Amino acid sequence: MKKITGWCMMNIKTVHVHGKGSEEGLTMYYIGVDLGTSAVKLLLMDGAGQILKIVSREYPIYFPHPGWSEQNPEDWYAQTMAGLKELLNGFDGGQLAGISFGGQMHGLVILDSEDRVIRPALLWNDGRTYEECDYLNNVIGKEKLSEYTANISFTGFTAPKVLWVKNKEPENFARIAKIMLPKDYIAYRLTGVHCTDVSDASGMLLFDVKNRCWSQKMLKICGIREEQMAKVYESYETVGTLLPEVAAELGVPAGVKVAAGAGDNAAAAVGTGTVGEGMCNISLGTSGTIFISSEKFGVDRNNALHAFAHADGHYHLMGCMLSAASCNKWWLGDIIGTEDYAAEQAQITKLGENHVYFLPYLMGERSPHNNPNARGTFIGMTMDTTRADMTQAVLEGVAFALRDSFEVAKSLGIKIERTKICGGGAKSALWKKMIANIMNIKVDVVENEEGPALGGAMLAAVACGEYASVEEAAAKLVRVIDTVEPEPELAAKYEERYQQFRQIYPACKPLFEIIK
Ligand code: XUL
Repeated sequence: MKKITGWCMMNIKTVHVHGKGSEEGLTMYYIGVDLGTSAVKLLLMDGAGQILKIVSREYPIYFPHPGWSEQNPEDWYAQTMAGLKELLNGFDGGQLAGISFGGQMHGLVILDSEDRVIRPALLWNDGRTYEECDYLNNVIGKEKLSEYTANISFTGFTAPKVLWVKNKEPENFARIAKIMLPKDYIAYRLTGVHCTDVSDASGMLLFDVKNRCWSQKMLKICGIREEQMAKVYESYETVGTLLPEVAAELGVPAGVKVAAGAGDNAAAAVGTGTVGEGMCNISLGTSGTIFISSEKFGVDRNNALHAFAHADGHYHLMGCMLSAASCNKWWLGDIIGTEDYAAEQAQITKLGENHVYFLPYLMGERSPHNNPNARGTFIGMTMDTTRADMTQAVLEGVAFALRDSFEVAKSLGIKIERTKICGGGAKSALWKKMIANIMNIKVDVVENEEGPALGGAMLAAVACGEYASVEEAAAKLVRVIDTVEPEPELAAKYEERYQQFRQIYPACKPLFEIIK
């Protein structure tokens, strides 16, 4: 692929380089690393797109105060290395050609002049930057932010986190030599290169999304110098090769290429073939996202949807809810106390008739409300409400909240008739049926719902020249195996329910300012 040499990257062209494997007649391997919130998932794929092995390793998340969330970058690296070894066990490491990433977005990793981590990373769902967001959105002003970056400030974004460190931990701020995102820290440990990619950089509120370069205006507002930022690459570009000591530890050639990769949602979109113009993907992971790809740059005039660069060289709009499959995990695991999700869901029979509603704002909410004080809420219970009704309300509440972002996209004139779906929640047939009917769109089920990890491996394969472009990799490797169609009668029932659901947040909003 064409290497980007400057900070600004426009008019990107791709140059085809033959894959090592195709030249030597040997099947080459590619690894996708999905650095998630609860675990790192690693996927080994061959050049033909066959998934050979998947492993996953968990690490802790810390909530030091209500609404704060942190992780230790060292935990990410230790588990990624252990996972890479486990993944390669039983395979010929000599056939590994490339590694790339999908990574939890927006997290702030700060390094000192010796590249040591200064403090635990503040994560994408951390809501502590309320005051800094207020400053950015209301003192600097949303119009300026949108002009400089195509986005406004949300508590989870990186720029308000930098300001929080500046305001609350000035001694740490003074030590910052490099500002990095989670997956980019891993790429740095593997290659020694400080890099990021356009999709992940877009979520920092420090990036000029339209022109795919750092925004000098935003760097100045946050008191940052450009040399503190990583070098920006397109997602499918090679940033370097494995450090000799890392390659030796893994038992693979030192020439293994590392490609920049993408934020987890852009990587998931690649993994489900959501590339090019007007495609949609829903991700039901810890967060829930609706992702709409576009060949042209465009901004939501109200900035309720994020306008970011895509891993395919183009752009996307995205709505992100902070708690999606995590609501189901919280309800069934922490509250009900069961691991058997399928058994709980089997009790749900009355679709479209539930009188119980659930607002899924367990970590506050991002899209479209932008309110870190919003809270999870059950409403509508009566003496005959059952455990199944409550479980149903949780699943439906997530789908209704996704529809809130979908409505914003529709109001921009975007027509979506079908979507792909991925993430842990996509394993539930019931949840997919709810989404198809609540949003009244067709839900295409892809053969491999591995999302970011698969997308990461595909980006590595493109970087190594196995495929000429991300679009070509998606066209050749992603297969739709089933479609969940909305049923007119059920969709009509859910339409009525949604009209009730959408009145609950505005009614509760004043209370969320009091209940703290
Ligand atoms: C996207 C977002 C989340 C995280 C989850 O804007 O914040 O989807 O990337 O990993």
